[in-house]
Amino acid sequence: MSLKRALNIADLRDLARQRLPRMVFDYIDGGAEDEITLNANRARLSQYRLRWNALVDVSTVDLSTSLMGTKTSLPFLISPTAASRLFHPREGERAVARAAQKAGMIYSISTIGSVSIEEIAKLSDGPKWFQVYVWRDKSLVEGILDRVRGAGFTGLILTVDVPVAGNRERDPRNDFTIPPRITPRTVTQMLTRPGYLWDVATTPTINPANFPDQRSRGGIIEFINSQFDTSVTWDYAKWLKEAWGGPLAIKGISHGRDAVRAIEAGADAVWVSNHGGRQLDTAPATIDTLDEVVQAVAGRAEVIFDGGVRRGSDIAKALTLGASGVAIGRAYLYGLAAAGEPGVEKAIDILRDELERTLRLMGCPQLNALDRRLLDLPAMH
Ligand SMILES: Cc1cc2nc3c(=O)[nH]c(=O)nc-3n(C[C@H](O)[C@H](O)[C@H](O)COP(=O)(O)O)c2cc1C
Repeated sequence: MSLKRALNIADLRDLARQRLPRMVFDYIDGGAEDEITLNANRARLSQYRLRWNALVDVSTVDLSTSLMGTKTSLPFLISPTAASRLFHPREGERAVARAAQKAGMIYSISTIGSVSIEEIAKLSDGPKWFQVYVWRDKSLVEGILDRVRGAGFTGLILTVDVPVAGNRERDPRNDFTIPPRITPRTVTQMLTRPGYLWDVATTPTINPANFPDQRSRGGIIEFINSQFDTSVTWDYAKWLKEAWGGPLAIKGISHGRDAVRAIEAGADAVWVSNHGGRQLDTAPATIDTLDEVVQAVAGRAEVIFDGGVRRGSDIAKALTLGASGVAIGRAYLYGLAAAGEPGVEKAIDILRDELERTLRLMGCPQLNALDRRLLDLPAMH
């Protein structure tokens, strides 16, 4: 199948599988332990049911909105993902940032991105957010915040569902590390994907681009583990909000009590996420926790949702339940791995078209017409 013939995100996933060595595909596609949460995110989304308003003028549909004060032409945004050059060694984050800019949508980059903050700022003047983790070295974070501010990023995301890395068993089974190591298993997998191998061999090593001093200390994973602070509490979020001084989203919230704590810490957006099923396995599907968080937030902050989004109708469901915005992870990574920038553009186009069609079919030409009465919730257990 060619990119042109890809009809949906599942087709882009097939193309990504054909292009990537198994270990890299598994790193995107997989989740923690038995992948119960990974699968639940998709399975539960598919059980929510949409209804529609008949005979509404849907000749024009408006998808534009604003999230944490950032204007965007789409209610879905690019979720931060680490080291995107792994998935497309030549372009990585550059391809995603350019495609997002063309679409007029928010791009967010991970602290452990493989392209620097400054380079992203230079190639895209579109809306941009930056994601940080809870890190041991506050001066390292302060230094990063100065760079992020200087580069014109308008929102900060604090990810709070990674006190330690999740147990993703596909990775050790495949001997997978970042950057990839040479072992009989990885070489065998690489040799079956000569195009990818060529790209890796002819481009710079994939490293945490924002921390050039740390490169010599080992791979990205070692760097991350050395920086994660497992002892921090909500005071860190308060400190970060003050140090940043701008709009802050707290990503990785799983219940209403933490949503309230996030608001008390100064969050402008509460982000419902289980890291795409990559952290605590057997956590509930995010769509099943969204309602509780929306109720707890009670309009005091925005709510962003992610987890398992592969269709425009998934986005419509989260918005109908009260999310202000929906983040996509694997959906664009499959496009990136399949074909670089045109692949990400294709993923965005697919989701935009599907969402627009879904809104027309639902008789909701504006996002604020999405009304909870149009969504049937499945039984919880
Ligand atoms: C390969 C990969 C890398 C990720 N890296 C990060 C990261 O560095 N920071 C972060 O906050 N979330 C990270 N995430 C989680 C995503 O931001 C998002 O929460 C998740 O992918 C949403 O689920 P979905 O992939 O089903 O859309 C990563 C996800 C994937 C698949």
